[in-house]
Amino acid sequence: MSIDPHSSPIPLHNASAEVDALSLDAAAEAAWVDVVHQMEEVYSDLIKYQVEIEKKNQALEDAQHFIDNVLTTMTDVLIVTDTQGRIRQVNRALEQALGVAEAELLGRAYLDLFSADSRRQIENFRRQGGELAFRDRELHLTLGRGAETPLSMNCASRHDARGRVLGLVLIGRPLGELQKAYLELNNSHQELQRAQQQLIDSEKMASLGRLVAGVAHELNNPISFVYGNVHSLIRYCQRLEQYLGAVHGDAPQPEQDELRRSLRIDRLLNDLPSLLEGTMEGAERVRDIVMDLRQFSSGQKESKCPFDLVHVIRTAVHWVTRDAGIKLRLAYDLPQTCEIYGHPGQIQQVLINLVQNALDALAAVEVPRLALSLRCEEARVRFEIHDNGRGIAEDNLSKLFEPFFTTKPVGQGTGLGLSLSYGLIKEHGGTLSAFNHPGGGACFVVELPRGPVEERP
Ligand SMILES: Nc1ncnc2c1ncn2[C@@H]1O[C@H](COP(=O)(O)OP(=O)(O)OP(=O)(O)O)[C@@H](O)[C@H]1O
Ligand SMILES: [Mg+2]
Repeated sequence: MSIDPHSSPIPLHNASAEVDALSLDAAAEAAWVDVVHQMEEVYSDLIKYQVEIEKKNQALEDAQHFIDNVLTTMTDVLIVTDTQGRIRQVNRALEQALGVAEAELLGRAYLDLFSADSRRQIENFRRQGGELAFRDRELHLTLGRGAETPLSMNCASRHDARGRVLGLVLIGRPLGELQKAYLELNNSHQELQRAQQQLIDSEKMASLGRLVAGVAHELNNPISFVYGNVHSLIRYCQRLEQYLGAVHGDAPQPEQDELRRSLRIDRLLNDLPSLLEGTMEGAERVRDIVMDLRQFSSGQKESKCPFDLVHVIRTAVHWVTRDAGIKLRLAYDLPQTCEIYGHPGQIQQVLINLVQNALDALAAVEVPRLALSLRCEEARVRFEIHDNGRGIAEDNLSKLFEPFFTTKPVGQGTGLGLSLSYGLIKEHGGTLSAFNHPGGGACFVVELPRGPVEERP
């Protein structure tokens, strides 16, 4: 802004008065210039303030827009109240959950939105003293209508810049969503468990298949033994019948004596106890084999119990190596017995896997050897199985226990044996590890606690 000093409104009269007027003119002019300067300064300040206010307005608008955006896109419901518990702000998720527009909610008591039971709960939280605050509480929104929407709610106080309480902020996540997600998670977990159980079962069936020949032989022995004995007993019965017929009939004494001699009744009577004992032994052997088999094939539901690990080791080795078709040199270093607590069937499955792997590794070895040792200490046992096969390639040592890792040709190995064995031993609170023996060949070590371990949920 500029002002013309010649348009001054001050009048001029005579010469002396002219001098005065001149000096007055100069003073007035200086005053005007001063005023003009000041006005210019005020004006530029005004413009500066105007620009600042506009900037602040823009920032405020942006912030408001940002908050609106967040509130509308939030899927959790939001209720903001004043100190009297009257609703000051809600978001779209709450409008949708209740089926009511924001305008109808503002100014109402927030407690009206909740079911009677939830209101009681909130009152209880309040009675516990201090500012009302809670986390992850299940509360039900109803607004007096029949249907209830369960929410997992959090509540905290809001404060002004000086820390004075202004009211509450309540945020709730619809539990339906959470429950749905949880249900889906649970279903896929169960699905996984089923698949895992199927894998365990099919691996067990594969081991069982490999064992069938060995077990058939094993059963054949006592059965043919019992069969032979029963044949002798049938013949003995016929001879006894013939002799008893003569004794109870009218045959004279010399004829009876002759019959006793020719039918070799005395030898028969002598033979009977050992024949019966042998038959009994054979039947018991069959029963034991069937029991061992049943133990092996029993499902995961089999409960844990005390059992003799040495017996399980011997049976597993016996079954697998019996029909292996190689001249195996077996070296046992086992105690007489060693009782541990667990699933005998599962431990047997692990041992069968380990022995079978060793046999596979020994297939092309000229003098195949297998050494088995068991150290039975007070609280733990350590079982080692060492073969003199080709050993394990260094690169493969870290992959052995991964599911489906196999170096065997397609159709000869699924690569599940060691990974399942690892899991079964872990479930017993133990460890399964492998290394190449300094003297050659592979060595697998099973370490187990002897007593019960805490079940994992
Ligand atoms: N005693 C061993 N000597 C050398 N390599 C071994 C021995 N035991 C296991 N392995 C290696 O570990 C791999 C995995 O063994 P794992 O028992 O898991 O599967 P697999 O024997 O190949 O198949 P399956 O599922 O039929 O048992 C084998 O393919 C083999 O390469
Ligand atoms: Mg295997």
